[in-house]
Amino acid sequence: METLDQIVAQAVSDFEQAPDSNALEQAKARYLGKAGQLTERLKALGKLEPDARKSAGAAINLAKADIEGALEARREALKEAALAAQLAAEALDVTLPGRGMGRGGLHPVSRTIERIEGLFRSIGFEVADGPEIETDFHNFTALNTPENHPARSMHDTFYLEGSDAVLLRTHTSPVQIRTMQAHVAQFWHLSVMPEIRVVIPGRVYRVDSDATHSPMFHQVEGLWVGQNVSFADLKGVIIDFLRRFFESDDLKVRFRPSFFPFTEPSAEIDVAFMHGELEGRWLEIAGCGMVHPNVLRHGGIDPERYTGFAFGMGPDRLTMLRYGVNDLRLFFEGDVRFLAQFR
Ligand code: DAH
Repeated sequence: METLDQIVAQAVSDFEQAPDSNALEQAKARYLGKAGQLTERLKALGKLEPDARKSAGAAINLAKADIEGALEARREALKEAALAAQLAAEALDVTLPGRGMGRGGLHPVSRTIERIEGLFRSIGFEVADGPEIETDFHNFTALNTPENHPARSMHDTFYLEGSDAVLLRTHTSPVQIRTMQAHVAQFWHLSVMPEIRVVIPGRVYRVDSDATHSPMFHQVEGLWVGQNVSFADLKGVIIDFLRRFFESDDLKVRFRPSFFPFTEPSAEIDVAFMHGELEGRWLEIAGCGMVHPNVLRHGGIDPERYTGFAFGMGPDRLTMLRYGVNDLRLFFEGDVRFLAQFR
């Protein structure tokens, strides 16, 4: 029969060779389980004389303690090995550089529009807007544009399917009419209405597409209506605005006689820079004029009592000039490599 020492040695070696906790628990059963070797020895004690039983019992208990110690040690070792394996499998390289947060930024045209709004707010203008889907009445008729005017032709204007009375606005000028009508609705009961001073930025649409034209582009409309508003006021506001917009005092501004149905007299506004690539070249940047009496009437305003000036400028063009961009389409292609340069 094996000695207790042999049994302990065998148990310790079995435990050490158990590759996982399942195997370990099976090995444990061979020694400490109901029919385990040590359990059998304990059962056999009853057949011994009391003295022999006492010393044999003590020896078995010592052996049992040794086996339990070895078992516990192996359990711990297996647990640690399992944890180490899990950590290795789930390892993260914390020294890798992060993916970073993509930093957003305003579109260059949005920056220009915000800049225009800010400059006009600083001299007492409000910012207004109106619908991009317009009626033929607001877009043309109310702006004194006759039925047979070329701007109304199918070649220039996007009409909505199934209607020749609803269209994508071709300019921001219809918001002049909406602004005047809303103003009158609010102030008609006063003997003298407060002045209207608004800028109206927004998207406009025309059937047109090349390096300097996009079917969707932007305009900023301006409107100042009051009791004694003159062309001199128009010149002062525009020249001051352009100097501040381009941050330059030696900028030339020219008001070149022109025609628009909704203004009389009308002018194109040209600027020329005194230095840089475009030095000395006249660049057209806006249309303007004194609001035509018929337009005031459509807005509900008496042209005998009130006068006004209006202008419409292209913030896309202003953005190109300010940043030296030569293809308008770049603004609307949505290529982040281009746009990110302005953030
Ligand atoms: N609506 C004109 C256009 O789109 C621009 C314009 C010209 C607006 C003269 C005005 C103005 O308010 O007075 O071509």
